[in-house]
Amino acid sequence: MTKMEETSNTKHSGQMNSSCNSLAELHTIINVIPKDKKEEKSNFIGLSASEFTGLTSSATVFISLFVALFTVIKYSKDHKHQLNLLQREKDKEDILKAKEKIEKFYGPLNAYLEESRVIYEHFANDEKKHLKKQGEYFRTLRYLTNKPESKTKGIDRFKLHDQELLNHILNISDRIIKLIEENSGYIDNSALHPLLGKLAAHYRIIKSASEGKLTDQAEHLENIVFPLEINGAINSEIYKLTKIINNSKEATVLTNKTIDFYNKNHLDYYLQTSNSSDMKFTYDIVREFVPNGSKILDAGCGVGRDTKYFIQHGFKVVSFDASKNMVEMCNEYPFACCEHLSFEIIKYPPVFDLVWACASLLHLNETEFQSALTKLHRSLKPSGILYFSLKSKVDKSKSKGRDFFQHDFQRVKTILESNLSMTHIKSWSTVSSISGAEIFENYIFRK
Ligand SMILES: C[S@@+](CC[C@H](N)C(=O)[O-])C[C@H]1O[C@@H](n2cnc3c(N)ncnc32)[C@H](O)[C@@H]1O
Repeated sequence: MTKMEETSNTKHSGQMNSSCNSLAELHTIINVIPKDKKEEKSNFIGLSASEFTGLTSSATVFISLFVALFTVIKYSKDHKHQLNLLQREKDKEDILKAKEKIEKFYGPLNAYLEESRVIYEHFANDEKKHLKKQGEYFRTLRYLTNKPESKTKGIDRFKLHDQELLNHILNISDRIIKLIEENSGYIDNSALHPLLGKLAAHYRIIKSASEGKLTDQAEHLENIVFPLEINGAINSEIYKLTKIINNSKEATVLTNKTIDFYNKNHLDYYLQTSNSSDMKFTYDIVREFVPNGSKILDAGCGVGRDTKYFIQHGFKVVSFDASKNMVEMCNEYPFACCEHLSFEIIKYPPVFDLVWACASLLHLNETEFQSALTKLHRSLKPSGILYFSLKSKVDKSKSKGRDFFQHDFQRVKTILESNLSMTHIKSWSTVSSISGAEIFENYIFRK
C-alpha cells in the first residue's frame, strides 16, 4: 500500500469510524424516542402512516356514503316525480273517460228522462185527478190495457191532447232504448244494467199497449212499471263522474268522540235504524212540500236509510256524513252517492230542493249549529225546503259517550227566520223509533 493509499484509507476509516459512531448514537436516540413519536416523524402532515391510511379510508367511506345517499335521494325524487307524472297522466285519462261517459251516455240519458218526466207531468191530467179523488194513482199501462167498458184500444182511449203527449213520450222512450243498446259499454256500475233492463221493458210494453196489442191478461203486465230509482241512480253516476272531472280530492274530516262512536257502532246503528217504514209518517209530511223527482241533500245521513228511500221513490240524492263507516254503509246501496264530509267543511252550491237533516244537527254545539244551518241554507235553491229533527230534551245517561245538544224552538227561529230570512212552515213531535221513549222535535222551514 502506498503512503497515499494508506493516508486515504486512514482518512476513510476515520470517517467510517465517525459514521459508525453517529449511527450507533442515532440508534440509541431512536430506541429512546417513544414509539408514537417515532411514527410522527415518518409523515409529512404530522400524521403517522397508519393514521394517514385510516384517515383516507374514512374519507373514502364517507364520500361513498355521501354519493350513495345522494343517489338514493335523487332516485327517490326522480321516482316520486315519475309517479307524479304517471298519476297526472292517469288523472287526465280518467277525466277524458269521465267526460266521454257523460257526453255519450249519462248526459243524453238524463236529458231524455227529464224531458219525458216533464211531459208526463202534463199528460192525462183529468184521469190523474179523477183517480186521486178515489184515493188511487193513475197508471198509464193499466189505463191502456185494462178498460173493459171502452171499445177503443190503446192510445185512442186518450183525448187528442194526451195522445200527442203520449206520442212524444213514446218517441223519447225509443231514443232511450237505442241509447242503452248502443252505449251500455259506458256503464261501470253493474247494478245499473238490470235497472236499465226494467226501464226498456217498461217502454216496450207501453208501446205495444198504446198500439192496442196488449188487451188480454193485462193484470200480468201490471208490475212492469217505470223503475223510479233510475232518476237517482243516473244522477249519482253523473255526480261521481263530475267529481272525477273536477279532480276532487278526499277532504280531511276531523273526528271527535261522537264520530268515533258512530264509526265503532255503525253495524248496531244499522240494525236499529235501517227500517224506513218507521219514517213513513215524517216522509209523508215532508213530501207534501217537495215535488217528485227533486234534488235532496241528506245531511248527516248515517247508514243511508233515507237516501235509499228517496232514491227508490224517484228523487235525486247527494248525501254526506262525518263517520267514514257510516259513509261506507250508505254507499253499499249501489245507487247512493255519499261523501265523507262534515257540517264544518261542506260547501254545497244552491242546487237542492230539499235539505234533509234527520237527527244529525243535534250533535252540534251552539256555534257549530248556527254555522251548519247557514251552510245548509246556502245549499238550497230559492224556495227550497229545510227539514231537520232535534231532541226535545238531552238525557246524558242515554248518550253512550256521544255529545248531544239541545236547541230550543226560539233559538232555531232566531237563526232561521231573523238571521237567514227563512219561513217557518211546520213543526211536530215524534217518538224515537230506537228508544220508543225519547221525543224529537221536527221542523220545516222554507228559503
Ligand atoms: C243519530 S245519527 C242520524 C243518522 C241519520 N240521519 C238517521 O236519521 O238515521 C247522527 C249522524 O250524524 C253524523 N254526524 C255527527 N256529527 C256530524 C258532523 N259534524 N258532520 C256530519 N255528520 C255528523 C253521525 O256520524 C251520524 O251518522
